[in-house]
Amino acid sequence: MLVHGFPFHSGMWSEQIGPLRKIGRVILVDLLGFGASAMNGATPATLTMDQQADAVAAALDYLKVREPATYVGFSMGGYVGWSFVRRHRARVDSLIMCNTRALADTPDAAQARRDMANSVEGKGHKLVIDALLPRLVSPRTLSQRPDVCARVVDLIEEAQLAAIAGAQRGMAERPDSTQLACELDLPVLAIVGEHDAISKREELEALTGRMRDATLAVIPDAGHMTVFENTTATNRALGEFINELR
Ligand code: MLT
Repeated sequence: MLVHGFPFHSGMWSEQIGPLRKIGRVILVDLLGFGASAMNGATPATLTMDQQADAVAAALDYLKVREPATYVGFSMGGYVGWSFVRRHRARVDSLIMCNTRALADTPDAAQARRDMANSVEGKGHKLVIDALLPRLVSPRTLSQRPDVCARVVDLIEEAQLAAIAGAQRGMAERPDSTQLACELDLPVLAIVGEHDAISKREELEALTGRMRDATLAVIPDAGHMTVFENTTATNRALGEFINELR
C-alpha cells in the first residue's frame, strides 16, 4: 500500500509500481484532496493526518483487503502512517517510512505552513514551487537535473490549491509520534536521502536507533525526492526489505 507525499498524488510512485508488482499486490492510494480523491469544492479547510489515515482504511475496506499489509508512506504519507498504525494497527504488518519524520513541527515551522495555507489560494502554485522545490531536491538535482525538477513541478501543479492549504494545516497540527515509533512491534524500514533537507539523515539515524526493529537505508546522491533522484537505489532498498518479509 503506497501512500504519497505532499503535495503529490499516487502518480509519484510510477517508477516503483513495476518492480513492486513482481513481489506482490500493489495498492496505490490518493489521499483526500489529491489525485483521484480531489474533492472539487468540498475540501475541508484542514485535512488532518487522522482523517487521511481513516480514508486509507476505507480504501482497504473498499478493496476488501482484510489481511495486514506493508504500509509504505512517503513524507506526508509517513505522517499519515503514524496515524494509521495508531488507529488501524491490525491492518499493518510492516512499515516503510520514506523520507519522513516522527517529530512534530516546531512552532515556527507550523506557522510557516499556516501562512502558506492562508495565502496559497490567492497566490497560486508558484508560491508553493518557489518555497518547496529547493527543499525537495538536492542542490545538485536543482542545478543539474532539470528533468527531475520538471517532474516535481508538474506534480505540484496538478494539486488543487484548496488541498495544499488543507494538508498544510493538517500537517501543522500533527502530533509527535516518536514514542509511538519507539514502541512499535513491527519491522520498519526507514529510507532517507543523503542530502534530504526535510527529513534529515541524522534525525532518522537517531530515531531508528531507538526503535525496536528498524533499518535505515541512506540513498546516495538524493535529497528528499529519493524515488525520483535515485530510483535504482530506492527500489533496491524497497525490494530487499519486502522480499525479506515475505
Ligand atoms: C512531503 O514530501 O510530503 C512534504 O515535504 C512533507 C512536509 O512538508 O513536511
